[in-house]
Amino acid sequence: VDDRIAGISSAIRVIPDFPKPGIMFQDITTLLLDPVAFKNTIDLFVERYKDKDISVVAGVEARGFIFGPPIALAIGAKFVPMRKPNKLPGAVISEEYSLEYGTDKIEMHVGAVQEGERALVIDDLIATGGTLCAAINLLERVGVKVVECACVIELPDLKGRERLGDKPLFVLVS
Ligand code: PRP
Ligand code: MG
Repeated sequence: VDDRIAGISSAIRVIPDFPKPGIMFQDITTLLLDPVAFKNTIDLFVERYKDKDISVVAGVEARGFIFGPPIALAIGAKFVPMRKPNKLPGAVISEEYSLEYGTDKIEMHVGAVQEGERALVIDDLIATGGTLCAAINLLERVGVKVVECACVIELPDLKGRERLGDKPLFVLVS
């Protein structure tokens, strides 16, 4: 494997019992403090996606907003924020998804993407996959092809990859 992956993995801090007992929180803020590991993270995604004819990088609030824009700039794609509810000022389309308790929603501006575009969906982490599924559904509803989803971290025990079905998922650290 790529040596860079080991550096990225060790730059991610694990904080036990946050936000509640039993959760091992994967903290990417320490990755951001390490310019080499952060750059390697972006470079690995850029190397994978630069020749895939992607016109849209969609990032999920909040932590998808950290990794998505530098990738979009490097591959010459636009960046589309997928926001938590009631944050975007224009007309939106929204998609609800289930959480451990209750539901949440993400929203995208109408007109941000055009039918037939090719998208990469970025987030920091996949757990149950609910967030990424909602992002995929939003894009597909407006006729965009989701080429792949990409995350820095996967928590395989939570079976998010299965929830994505036949949608390809690329992760750096598992
Ligand atoms: C976390 C993480 C992913 C999502 C993954 O975000 O950043 O977006 O959960 O979980 P899932 O695969 O089970 O859907 P969170 O909603 O905690 O908010 P944040 O990114 O705004 O901190
Ligand atoms: Mg998130």
